[in-house]
Amino acid sequence: IFIIALIVFCVVGNRIYMWRTSNAKNESPDFVFLYAENQTADYPTTLGAEKFADLVYERTDGRIKILVKHGAELGSEMEVIQQLRYGGIAFARVSISQIAGYVPDMNILQMPYLYSSSDHMWRVLDGEIGDEFLSKASEYNLVGLSWYDAGARNFYSTKPITCLEDLQGMNIRIQESDMMADMVSALGANPVKIVYSDVYSALEQGIVDCAENNWPSYEAMDHYNVARYYTIDEHTRVPEMQICSAEIWNQLSESDQQIIMDCAKESALYERQLWHEREKTSREIAEKSGVTVIAISPAEKQRFRKAMSSVYEKYCVNQMDILEKIMEY
Ligand code: GCU
Repeated sequence: IFIIALIVFCVVGNRIYMWRTSNAKNESPDFVFLYAENQTADYPTTLGAEKFADLVYERTDGRIKILVKHGAELGSEMEVIQQLRYGGIAFARVSISQIAGYVPDMNILQMPYLYSSSDHMWRVLDGEIGDEFLSKASEYNLVGLSWYDAGARNFYSTKPITCLEDLQGMNIRIQESDMMADMVSALGANPVKIVYSDVYSALEQGIVDCAENNWPSYEAMDHYNVARYYTIDEHTRVPEMQICSAEIWNQLSESDQQIIMDCAKESALYERQLWHEREKTSREIAEKSGVTVIAISPAEKQRFRKAMSSVYEKYCVNQMDILEKIMEY
């Protein structure tokens, strides 16, 4: 009996040991981090985040596991940024208009009608200015990792907008951003700050007549079912940043920091590809549903641009050198 018991003990014991070591990669990461994302599960930025998490897991041999929480499960972007500051959440992808709430210099990268095209914006972000602004995130205890694409933003409304006069007195939903509020006021409309997840109901209930965003957000959040006129004026491109909490960052070894930085940049290239595809499909879905797409005339767009001079005076006066460099690009 003793010998049989000994054999059973050795065999079972050995199995358990093997099971633990062979599962070590999955069962006991050194770090498990939360990543906040406010878009839907199939949105390009969420898929970019998943890619980032997979790359980090692979390249650290399972020592660092990142759990992506989409759909604003961890809070609004402003709340998430605050939580990153103290290390409650480790990672996020956020619109820079929200980081600008804490680091006002960021506004310069999202000024109205600043970039002549998507290529222009990427020349700026992929160059030294982009790097400089990733580092600026440190002013709010954040580490800027990479830039994600969010295309150009346009107005969409419950009644047609074809000229500046149509905007007068309209209630327009904006992000929680003072610069956006000033932009909308300069166009003669009333800015209403509303968190992203509440925009659909605000449009449906008539709290606002208009909102503004890119094609993928307009479609993914179902806004196109309640605001049936989409006016292409491309008034701004608001880049998005992948960020890490400096509290968390400082607990990592230099080699893990490098892995995270590399994976973030790789995931950003992946997101940019997905973005181009999604812009097309989102537009197709909205158009198929019967949305009226209005392209404002170049002359009218010039009137919109002219109205922005006071906004430039307010937000760029201390950064004229950077503004000039951006324009040179
Ligand atoms: C875009 C952006 C979001 C942001 C939203 C908004 O969709 O990707 O991160 O919250 O704009 O208008 O609030």
